[in-house]
Amino acid sequence: MTIELNLPIFQKIGAVADALGLECYVVGGYVRDLLLKRPSKDIDVVVVGNGIQMAEEFAKSLGRGARIAVFKSYGTAQVKHKGIEIEFVGARKESYQRESRNPIVECGTLEDDQLRRDFTINAMAVCLNEKRLGELIDPFGGVRHLDLKMIKTPCNPDITFSDDPLRMMRAIRFATQFGFFLEESTFEAITKNKERIKIITKERIILEINKIMESPQPSTGFLLMEKSGLLPFVFPELDKLKGVEKRNGRGHKDNFLHSLKVLDNVALKSDDLWLRWAALLHDIGKPATKEWDEQVGWTFKNHNYVGYKMIPAIFRNLKLPLGEPLKFVQKIVLLHMRPIVLIEDEISDSAVRRLLFDAGDDIDKLMLLCEADITSGNQEKVNLYLNNFKIVRQKLVEVEEKDRIRNFQPPIKGEEIMQLFDLPPGKVVGDLKTQIKDAILDGIIPNEYDAALQLLFKIAEEKGLKAKTDL
Ligand code: CTP
Repeated sequence: MTIELNLPIFQKIGAVADALGLECYVVGGYVRDLLLKRPSKDIDVVVVGNGIQMAEEFAKSLGRGARIAVFKSYGTAQVKHKGIEIEFVGARKESYQRESRNPIVECGTLEDDQLRRDFTINAMAVCLNEKRLGELIDPFGGVRHLDLKMIKTPCNPDITFSDDPLRMMRAIRFATQFGFFLEESTFEAITKNKERIKIITKERIILEINKIMESPQPSTGFLLMEKSGLLPFVFPELDKLKGVEKRNGRGHKDNFLHSLKVLDNVALKSDDLWLRWAALLHDIGKPATKEWDEQVGWTFKNHNYVGYKMIPAIFRNLKLPLGEPLKFVQKIVLLHMRPIVLIEDEISDSAVRRLLFDAGDDIDKLMLLCEADITSGNQEKVNLYLNNFKIVRQKLVEVEEKDRIRNFQPPIKGEEIMQLFDLPPGKVVGDLKTQIKDAILDGIIPNEYDAALQLLFKIAEEKGLKAKTDL
């Protein structure tokens, strides 16, 4: 089979390899993505011989515009040219391990190199030498497996996974990204070797989890992690959401499956990675708050608040970013019950104002999550809730137009209060500010400076505070 290579740079590499008398191939993800018609940026080239020498000659042939970085101990070199990155490596007999600290010494044939890659679909090579340009070398059936939508290791999966246990997560990630399935012996080997994932750094694992999160149907990955037994090692808090307990014939939802459904629902509507994380974690506080009540059955009181409190430690453990993404996910998890409570009670202007104030610019994302959170099997019930949410959305627009609460800043600042009443910073000033804010949110006064000032003087008088006379 011949593959049409889509970049002129491949011919150039082939010409340099011919001049050096070396065989040279583009391999791995690039070939896979070409066949899947997916965009791909990184190009990996295997040279049967010295990869670094080849890279140096190639960079020379490109002239000034090319930059080269040599990683001697890895036996690799990277050439950057016109926004394209090409990594050169000599064919190896042992496992292909980017992160390995040991120098890679033993050279091998192309097939040795292909055999020690992770999956058959990632082990295809296309020749770059002029006479064989485009020739596909596919000793393990990668093309057929792409057609079958199958993830399979090229050699005994126990060897593939013990060479690099991260590959267990990669298998699940590729299955999720592409909508493929795991071939039986490959899946079995993951269940068998699951504990070996412990030796992999969390930084590498989270890259795979985030690629799962960014897939069209992220639940696939988490279900495979659960089924293979990897989940408790990589994400114990999520694992704890599993299961249903029954008492007196009354059960509750399986919160693991429910969270995955909400995640998939959000993924249908939004590519926002952090909103997807909020969806996955929105009920994470449920196991810790679960209680049995004879009257109402199972309860999960304040699970949103407990979840909000749990999230920083989860982010830290998983090595997720602790800045804005963490704050955002916490906020959405904390607020995720508010719109539904709004429906159950009467939708008052003041409750809507408070929600707008607390959610700020994230209100639309919060509403999206709340709608995704309706996962009942009863379509009538779903329609009823969705319709009520429509009313809430309408009300949000009306109140926002009228009162501009979304980016609400109290019209009187603390400094001004301190100046007016000659107060030091402290609780008294804080209380005055809160009372003004509450009065605005409750609709007692409009969101305007004069009205706020008037109220401030009134409250101050009641508290026996005297305004400075020299103002
Ligand atoms: N590879 C491997 N084992 C790993 C990582 C990578 O065998 N643990 C091999 C595979 O042949 C893979 C190639 O190295 O195709 C390039 O790896 P990488 O760039 O990490 O992944 P891609 O397969 O290109 O996929 P993606 O870019 O989506 O991560």
